[in-house]
Amino acid sequence: MSQSLNTIYKLVKLLDKKEYEEVLRILSSQLNAETAFLLNYYEYQNSADILVGYNIKNEFNKYLKKLDIKKLINLKKELSKGLPVVINDIEEIDNFLEFKNILSDRNKKSAVLLPIRDNEKEIIGILGLVDKAKNKWKNEDIKILEILTYNLKYNWEDEILRLKYKSIIQNSASAIVIIDINGRIVETNNKFEKLSKTLNTKLENRYFFGFVHEIDRDKLIKRHQKRKKGLNVKSDYDFKFLDSDNEIKDVNIKVKMISGTDKTLCSLVDITEKKRNKNLIKIQEKKLNESYNQLKKSRDKLESTYLDLIDKNIENEKLINNIERLINLMSSLYISNNNIDKFLSDLLYTALELVEVADYGSVYIFDQKENIKYIDTIGHNLEKLNELKIKKKQFQHSKEEVSVVNNILEKNKESMNDSLKNKLKNIALPIKQTMTVLLKDRNNEFGGISIDIAKSSNKSFKEDDIRLLSSFKDLANTFFKLKKYKKLNKSFNKEIVSSLLNFLSLYDLYTNNHSENVAKWSQKIAEKLNLNDELKNDIYWTGMLHDMGKLIIPSNILNKKGKLTQKEYKIIQKHPVYCYKALNESEFLKDIAKYVLHHHERWDGNGYPNGLQGENIPLVSRVIAVADAWDAMRSKRAYRDSLSIEEAKEEIIKNKERQFDPRIAEILLDIVEN
Ligand SMILES: [Fe+2]
Repeated sequence: MSQSLNTIYKLVKLLDKKEYEEVLRILSSQLNAETAFLLNYYEYQNSADILVGYNIKNEFNKYLKKLDIKKLINLKKELSKGLPVVINDIEEIDNFLEFKNILSDRNKKSAVLLPIRDNEKEIIGILGLVDKAKNKWKNEDIKILEILTYNLKYNWEDEILRLKYKSIIQNSASAIVIIDINGRIVETNNKFEKLSKTLNTKLENRYFFGFVHEIDRDKLIKRHQKRKKGLNVKSDYDFKFLDSDNEIKDVNIKVKMISGTDKTLCSLVDITEKKRNKNLIKIQEKKLNESYNQLKKSRDKLESTYLDLIDKNIENEKLINNIERLINLMSSLYISNNNIDKFLSDLLYTALELVEVADYGSVYIFDQKENIKYIDTIGHNLEKLNELKIKKKQFQHSKEEVSVVNNILEKNKESMNDSLKNKLKNIALPIKQTMTVLLKDRNNEFGGISIDIAKSSNKSFKEDDIRLLSSFKDLANTFFKLKKYKKLNKSFNKEIVSSLLNFLSLYDLYTNNHSENVAKWSQKIAEKLNLNDELKNDIYWTGMLHDMGKLIIPSNILNKKGKLTQKEYKIIQKHPVYCYKALNESEFLKDIAKYVLHHHERWDGNGYPNGLQGENIPLVSRVIAVADAWDAMRSKRAYRDSLSIEEAKEEIIKNKERQFDPRIAEILLDIVEN
């Protein structure tokens, strides 16, 4: 034994990759085995393949070339423990049956297998000896083999690591390139081939930094040089990549020195698309924010106009009417992306109805040649006006947001020639006073709305009318912008919705988190109701949006501390309808529009807006109704503190079968209790 041990020790010390076969030969002869082999073992792939063998016949060799470890589960278990598997006679084994079959298939009778494990006790290889005769493997022989495999690990690790890297590299989701100390490419995977648009065979020994755009090249080379000196440098960053077609890509790189070598492993991911989208969203967000600020401003303005109107004891009915006009306008935004003409026409009609003293009007855009193109008119003859091909500069446009001029033809007589003036006199209806607003897309004036008072009228535009039209114009411009962004993509609708919700919470002091809370409670109920995913999703969005209609309820009513008057209450009750109108036209939100509409219906039929009863109310709306009431009771309001859990439970119990679907009320109580 000491003789064999000595031999082995010597061998191990000497061991060099090329000498593996020699080791195996000596082992075979010393231990009376026909065949010996070393396998690479890939834990993460559950497979092994042959690294080197001694005296292996073709068929067995073929088998060892791709060993499926999954089929050798008991064998694997034993080897994972670090224990040798010793089979003296295959007839006598009842364990490792799968392995027994393999051996007998190949006319083998005995075998010994030993794991080679790394420092983390993970199998990295297998040493195997096989014989065609029964073989009584001696304990001392096994000891020798154990010592050998233990030592093999150190000599072999480099090789194993290299192979492991190779496999990881090829299977990696990112493009991998290994470069040497001089920045020359040593190895790549096919993803890098794709990224660089260069064949693998042409990549070896190429200068890696040739694939870096010159604006980043020096920076990357400097980092590489510092890294090889062992200095700490940034190892995860983005740069401009240049492929063989000279196309520039944004790429993220993660760099790591391969331990024990002077090589660097770089993992690259093409982030061009991601970056582009990110930038786009950033720009959109910025523009959207601007729009919302503008919306808020015009909202405030509109509100103060309303307040004035209320102060002057103008009927609330008219107020409701105006709000309804505006929400209709808002919903018309969603109708069609391309139907700008319809939108402009709606604007004109709305403007004329808002400003009661006006008799006629026109809406127009400026075409590329700065001609006025009339889109729609009320009173005036549209076709004949367009035949005149009036230039924009032939009408004076004031710097004011809203301009009011008397006798517009007289006012513009200098910029118009006589023939145009005469034609206009014949075509346009006689006008006493004209109020004009310009429509703007950012700083670009693209059109305008003019409304006129007839020459025969004894009325004229008042301060209130000017303010009303001015806030109306701001809203119109903002909606125009929103409409544009809506075109960009579907998911952007979600952004709009959440921004609108933010806006709503600014506006209504007591809505803070209410939408989210209702959405969350409703989802819990939906879970207990075992609803399908689509309904669950609908429930979530209904919860989020159910009070969005409050956006256009004047905030002095919404946030009023005292008791609401009958009329004010009526205004508030309109919010489900407003929201319904706005959502119903949106492809994305259509499904939930009707759920929102009915979230204030009552089980007993005494709710609004339609007085639906019992199961005629959509299930989603019934769920929202309970969740809405629960969260409202549990949070503070202008006129009261929040209710305690016990008090709120009382209320739910008291009102089930009156206000709430009793089954859903029970589910809520159940959730609250547990
Ligand atoms: Fe509501």
